[in-house]
Amino acid sequence: MSIDKAAARDVKRRVHYFSTLKQRQQKIVVVTAYDYPTALAADAAGADAILVGDSLGMVALGFDSTIPVTVDMMVHHTAAVRRGSKLAFLIADLPFLSYKTSSAQAMETVARLMQEGGAEAVKMEGGQEIADIVRRVVDAGVPVMGHVGLTPQSVHKLGGYRVQGRSDDSAETIRRDALSLQEAGVFSIVLEAIDPTLAKQLSEELTVPTIGIGASRHCDGQVLVISDLAGMLPASPPKFAKQYANLHEQMTQAIRTYAQEVREAEFPTDRNEY
Ligand code: KIV
Repeated sequence: MSIDKAAARDVKRRVHYFSTLKQRQQKIVVVTAYDYPTALAADAAGADAILVGDSLGMVALGFDSTIPVTVDMMVHHTAAVRRGSKLAFLIADLPFLSYKTSSAQAMETVARLMQEGGAEAVKMEGGQEIADIVRRVVDAGVPVMGHVGLTPQSVHKLGGYRVQGRSDDSAETIRRDALSLQEAGVFSIVLEAIDPTLAKQLSEELTVPTIGIGASRHCDGQVLVISDLAGMLPASPPKFAKQYANLHEQMTQAIRTYAQEVREAEFPTDRNEY
């Protein structure tokens, strides 16, 4: 069966689907979700994977960075997405400092996201410095997605949300980070906000698929944050994203119309009675 047919049919995506798509040079589609209705929509639309990203802190919970996101929050939202998704491969982020202290700490966090949240894989931000921890988690039987370039949990170290890999030194560090993660056994790597030339080079050099966000069309797949894609917030989406709908505007208009009808006693009518 071709990948196209698999994508069109209700086929459960599993970890090997990622490498199959890369081998066939077919793009991988990943979207973030944090709740049950979005998971239902992502599944119905045929997304290959859903990422319960810790971006949830910023776009669903209103924090100004991902740093306040806790393991409890990730478990709560991953479980909601799990209830809505049957087909997409379900990946959950390990939040700030919940996995970098030791592999024992990482294992505990992974266990909660998989046992209580229903995740099928986890994502970790970082490179060479977390390679040993990644290897231990992979050896324990857990698919791990890497994440290099702009790593939002390190926003204060990076000095803001800025494109990475523009200097030769920075590009070489990102390359080494990605290679060490591949060596440690990750099944794919998110490249966030990196120079397009570096994204192309890495996507060609790595055997595991690269999933880009603000990292050019050269990546093996793309991930977008659902609120950017669907226009769920009043602010304009970042330049690297594309907005395919304006749900904030539609929802505001729906509430406005409802408010007006309640105030004018047009809703409810007899037809809305039990
Ligand atoms: O938290 C998140 O949504 C992410 C993606 C932007 C890759 O890490």
